[in-house]
Amino acid sequence: MNTRAKSSSEKPEESRSFFSRINLWFPWLKIVAAIFLIFIIVLDLLSFTVSKTANLNDDFPTMPMSRHIKATERTLEGKKLVALTFDDGPSPDTTPRLLDILTEKNAIATFFVLGTMAKRQPEIIKRAKSEGHQIASHTMYHQNLTGISLEAAEADINESRNVFRGITGYGPALTRPPYGNFNEKIGRLSKTPLILWSVDPEDWKYRDINAITEAVMRQVHDGAIILMHDIYPTSIDAVPVIIDKLRNDGYEFVTISEMAENRGITLSPGSSYYKF
Ligand code: NI
Repeated sequence: MNTRAKSSSEKPEESRSFFSRINLWFPWLKIVAAIFLIFIIVLDLLSFTVSKTANLNDDFPTMPMSRHIKATERTLEGKKLVALTFDDGPSPDTTPRLLDILTEKNAIATFFVLGTMAKRQPEIIKRAKSEGHQIASHTMYHQNLTGISLEAAEADINESRNVFRGITGYGPALTRPPYGNFNEKIGRLSKTPLILWSVDPEDWKYRDINAITEAVMRQVHDGAIILMHDIYPTSIDAVPVIIDKLRNDGYEFVTISEMAENRGITLSPGSSYYKF
């Protein structure tokens, strides 16, 4: 008779130490951990395969309309409307300062971002989006889309759509073709309305606060789309001055989509818009 075995088997459950309990469960924990790990690896492989094989021409949902974060406090009735638009960014040197100014002035804008810039500064895009600004596409490489082959134009547009989707989770709702150059085929490829402009202060050329401000004030009208670039410090410096002057003249700031909605215009893919 094995008394030692008997005495050990009769040991009451409660007297087992914490460590002996862990020991008892440990083999199971190892199995559970292994299954969990395999699950994670399979999931990772799956998502990798999906992203590698995704068709560039896949349609994905376009970004919903952006509204001013304080839209409910803002009244557009009886106001002249104007859309500030900024191209060629985002730049880490200038765009965050512009966002600070827009917040301080309680104004809203539309950003036509370049894919190459967006790829390097996804956080600025996310910030602008979270602050209610509209984010749209200015293509991937800023090529003259009517001066290159249709295949090259399609590749550029599709690449920018994918970068845009990677950052925002949506496809762009609007496109501004570089240099304002487009034709019917480019319009179709973009799958979005094409947004041009009616006020061009040529801020990239003058790089002077007064010249930019005066040009805007000379050309501005109700329903205007103002073209500026958020990559030049002088353009950013002019923004608070322009906002104050326009407000003084009875203008309120809206995104492109807000302005279209306010004017009862349904933006249609492939069509071009200069003002509303
Ligand atoms: Ni541009």
